[in-house]
Amino acid sequence: MKFSIVVAALASGALATPKYPQKLSKRTLEYSPPVYPSPWMNPEADGWEAAYTQAREFVSQMTLLEKVNLTTGTGWASEQCVGQVGAIPRLGLRSLCMHDSPLGIRGSDYNSAFPSGQTTAATFDRGLMYRRGYAIGQEARGKGINVILGPVAGPLGRMPAAGRNWEGFSPDPVLTGVGMAETIKGTQDAGVIACAKHFIGNEQEHFRQVGEARGYGFNISETLSSNIDDRTMHELYLWPFADAVRAGVGSFMCSYQQVNNSYGCQNSKLMNGLLKDELGFQGFVMSDWQAQHTGAAAAASGLDMSMPGDTEFNTGVSFWGTNLTLAVLNGTVPAYRIDDMAMRIMAAFFKVQKSVELDPINFSFWTLDTYGPIHWAAGEGYQQINYHVDVRADHANLIREIAAKGTVLLKNTGSLPLNKPKFLAVIGEDAGPNPNGPNSCADRGCDNGTLAMGWGSGTANYPYLITPDAALQARAIKDGSRYESILTNYAASQTKALVSQDNVTAIVFVNADSGEGYINFDGNMGDRKNLTLWRDGDALVKNVSSWCSNTIVVIHSTGPVLIGEWYDSPNITAILWAGLPGQESGNSITDVLYGKVNPSGRSPFTWGATREGYGADVLYTPNNGNGAPQQDFTEGVFIDYRYFDKANTSVIYEFGHGLSYTTFKYSNIQVQKSNAGVYQPTIGQTTPAPTFGNYSADLNDYLFPSEEFPYVYQYIYPYLNTTDPRNASGDPHFGQTAEEFMPPHAIDDSPQPLLRSSGKNAPGGNPALYDVLYTVTADITNTGSIVGDEVPQLYVSLGGPDDPKVVLRDFGKLRIEPGQTAQFKGVLTRRDLSNWDVVLQDWVVSNYTKMAYVGKSSRDLGLSIVLS
Ligand code: BGC
Repeated sequence: MKFSIVVAALASGALATPKYPQKLSKRTLEYSPPVYPSPWMNPEADGWEAAYTQAREFVSQMTLLEKVNLTTGTGWASEQCVGQVGAIPRLGLRSLCMHDSPLGIRGSDYNSAFPSGQTTAATFDRGLMYRRGYAIGQEARGKGINVILGPVAGPLGRMPAAGRNWEGFSPDPVLTGVGMAETIKGTQDAGVIACAKHFIGNEQEHFRQVGEARGYGFNISETLSSNIDDRTMHELYLWPFADAVRAGVGSFMCSYQQVNNSYGCQNSKLMNGLLKDELGFQGFVMSDWQAQHTGAAAAASGLDMSMPGDTEFNTGVSFWGTNLTLAVLNGTVPAYRIDDMAMRIMAAFFKVQKSVELDPINFSFWTLDTYGPIHWAAGEGYQQINYHVDVRADHANLIREIAAKGTVLLKNTGSLPLNKPKFLAVIGEDAGPNPNGPNSCADRGCDNGTLAMGWGSGTANYPYLITPDAALQARAIKDGSRYESILTNYAASQTKALVSQDNVTAIVFVNADSGEGYINFDGNMGDRKNLTLWRDGDALVKNVSSWCSNTIVVIHSTGPVLIGEWYDSPNITAILWAGLPGQESGNSITDVLYGKVNPSGRSPFTWGATREGYGADVLYTPNNGNGAPQQDFTEGVFIDYRYFDKANTSVIYEFGHGLSYTTFKYSNIQVQKSNAGVYQPTIGQTTPAPTFGNYSADLNDYLFPSEEFPYVYQYIYPYLNTTDPRNASGDPHFGQTAEEFMPPHAIDDSPQPLLRSSGKNAPGGNPALYDVLYTVTADITNTGSIVGDEVPQLYVSLGGPDDPKVVLRDFGKLRIEPGQTAQFKGVLTRRDLSNWDVVLQDWVVSNYTKMAYVGKSSRDLGLSIVLS
């Protein structure tokens, strides 16, 4: 349910010290209801039992200082990883390393650069998603990383221009949910904790952080508020995060921006209510870097780990650390809450990593030099910090396969696959190298040469980057073709002279880039400022195709681009979207162009004719004075194809579209109803809040032990520097009692009622939601002459007046020999057929007639059947 009030400062968590005082606004602001107390762990939760047994044993031995050390980062650049917490040497646990990124190891060497999440989503291949997660996990483990900061379901992809969509999977929540679950399982099976991020509503870069926005000249005092209603939250944005919890993910990252005018990392409705109560998440929530704005209130709202630990980078002070020690000692934060934080962190740790005997961290994010200060920001502790460990194994083959199978053949009038072309001309900067080297722009914050990943923290250094030019040339020479390339977009006369020759097959490479908000490239402050091709790509395509009647276009991009001006030209004989393929780019596209891999990628988003056609767009200008910009998600569940369907607008290529070099025929849809029984709401209550171990009330026991080790400059410690608590804290609110300071019920430790939509011991929500209600089958026949992989897609219409026309609910990937028929089998769970009832606060299957469709894309649904 949504509530509206006039005063934003009552948003949950805002009772504590807000980082920037909230300005009252005349506008009626959306409001996030308070949910307290913070749910404590359930050691009986499915899949977590053994981990919690180990965690209990460990945490019961910990002192309060050690618990605080485990929950608080040591400060920006204070250690080797992008984030680390304090060590527990007494119990044999070294400092845990939290490190980027969702597509490989960020900022290190001898690691692989994998295809983006979005490109992986385009494979519609669960096995490849899992294997990618596993391989990234192996590489992270080999470097000594404990938590890899991915995968991403926020942004989901509400707006096509949003800068970080490529880090995640797709604006479709089911496809993203599958991507999340498979990646998490793979990563954690390889022994590294995954982190589902950014929770939640983190749909654009503009205004995600006040400092960043001010740096761009926007005078705001609070970050953006994503205003999301309860139904949309459940049916769209929370959906893939529920899959992450159900897959057993060990950690979550709360997001920078506000949701309904309460900061992501102190929003009790999100962390306490949705994530821990309703979804029964048993791991820990870390803050995004500098996304924490309060101390005790963040703890009460469900935050478990402060990253990177300092209030802002390199201030040397923390909302937690010393302040959390004091807050527990004076009762503002109840002892059970810090115990719960420690238990959650250690349970996630033992679930995935089993033993505290860990290999050392063998790299430093801050430099590739072999020797340097281990405490980078402080410049202290000069020693060997990079061991240059090669963790790549044979992942290049997997990378090549994923990128090839994630390449979407959007159009083909017969020019593909290539077969020993007489003369191949490759045109465009996007086919060639960055002349300064593939890693020359920090965090890939430029667009030079072929585009194989976006920019920001979601990146990795390339161990090498195979350009399309290099791979295609090698293939052409092997075939005896003539080959020439022009690796600039601005050599019109030379290009014309080349591609106007007889017998030419011209392949034009173009791109469009985006990334994270801290980098502004060419006026794109993370988010793209438009949906057109970069570096005059449209002119290049139009020119080449006006001179050459066999022009093939390859697009590398972070999402859809507008291609309406040229896509239907008869001279453009094929169009491919190759996404962000990673280090094997050239090999992957060569495999597809020459038919070594029969294309089977499907577009994970819609290619609209206009930018406006998408409905929702990035908010580029503050709209609330200098208060929090308000981004109203008024379109509800209607994003991407659901919006185009509702508006009944034609699109260029629809969600799910993708061609093959063979053809498939669909027939014989059948449905089988299962005997799932009726939905049982969860009832009962939790145990009272447990505590583990004791702590001393004597402040002398908490002083910095300077005789044991030296103080590192700006490092965040759990210790006090004086036994005068007011001076030790420096908190202006010091002296208020917990009752005065904390929201109602925030320190309650009594048994709490279980939500009916939650699973008692089942992470991911009420287990009955995942009961299979129907199985839908269809026959798929390969009617062409070569073997191919087909992606049958199962959609449903829920039938109500407020429901999308169709929503994707399952898909398969079937390899079928020519002339053969394979059976596709898709399942529909109770959740798949339900709506979120905002009054009942539960999922309900409505009485409207429901239909199932099986087809090749969201708009090519040849088969349908009533679900009765
Ligand atoms: C990003 C996160 C990232 C973190 C650490 C933040 O700015 O939003 O995705 O994991 O930095 O680099």
